[in-house]
Amino acid sequence: LRDKYIQLIADAGEEAALEALRVQAVGKKGEISLKMRELGKMTPEERQVMGPKLNALKDEINSALSARKASLADAALEERLRGEWLDVTLPANGRRQGSIHPISQVREEVTAIFGEMGFSVAEGPQIDSDWYNFDALNIPSHHPARAEMDTFYMHRAEGDARPPHVLRTHTSPVQIRSMEKQGAPIRIIAPGRVYRADYDQTHTPMFHQVEGLAIDREISMAQLKWTLEEFLRAFFEVEGVELRFRASHFPFTEPSAEVDIRCSWEGGQLKVGEGDDWLEILGSGMVHPKVLAAGGIDPDAWQGFAFGIGIDRIAMLKYGIPDLRAFFDSDLRWLRHYGFGA
Ligand code: PHE
Repeated sequence: LRDKYIQLIADAGEEAALEALRVQAVGKKGEISLKMRELGKMTPEERQVMGPKLNALKDEINSALSARKASLADAALEERLRGEWLDVTLPANGRRQGSIHPISQVREEVTAIFGEMGFSVAEGPQIDSDWYNFDALNIPSHHPARAEMDTFYMHRAEGDARPPHVLRTHTSPVQIRSMEKQGAPIRIIAPGRVYRADYDQTHTPMFHQVEGLAIDREISMAQLKWTLEEFLRAFFEVEGVELRFRASHFPFTEPSAEVDIRCSWEGGQLKVGEGDDWLEILGSGMVHPKVLAAGGIDPDAWQGFAFGIGIDRIAMLKYGIPDLRAFFDSDLRWLRHYGFGA
């Protein structure tokens, strides 16, 4: 009986098997317990021999059980440690780092360059009244410029007769807000988002402009030209950036000029400073007296120049990105291709 159980215990491979053996041997109805119960029927002499023997056997079985149980637990722990070990010397999984979006980066570059020239940054809302977006800028309701701008209107509730607000179609309303807020003299830029219902390779319904406004006692067209040339040279860092000043018309400037930049678009590649294409990048001019007046500034005492540069356009040119729409697709592979994601 002893050898049988010692062997069975040694062979038991898991705790549950051990427990079954314990019940079978020394449990209430176990083989050894039953034998002990039989002691009662024995003669005193027999009992004196068998009693201690059975007790010793019971003790031996019990300690064999707990020894085996302990060694099974050790083995299980070993096994677990082997499975769960961690090599802290292994190289870490590469985490890609986030990076700044090209438009944000260009916006910062623009702000820095104009900052050097003494322009501070002003802001205005992206949803604005049609007074700020149009009327104050000398674009009355019937003016064709309103239609040309493909304006997004924020419709009023039914029965509300007030003119609707608009998603600003340009950053020029910030000119008026700055005049109202600080009066003359002024030297600000206002970068931000603008909206027009337009979509092709060089237009997206949301895009970015940076407005510039300088107002002082004596401001001339020559200073405007110098400022723009100085900026574009610093921004593109390309020797021989070629600009074309074209006489133009804006209701809020008189005279007005648009600026194109020489580029090539061959084979789907956009390059600045070479080729036979011209890309329009900004509108500018001398602030119209009516606009100064709308902003509360005396047009007889002050003059100003203003410009609006397409941030996305100059970003396309700087980074050779031929399709503006890709800027807003949120495709990380594209960003990395142009050297933006790490
Ligand atoms: N607001 C004009 C546009 O969006 C650009 C501009 C700004 C022109 C300032 C003249 C002066 O096209």
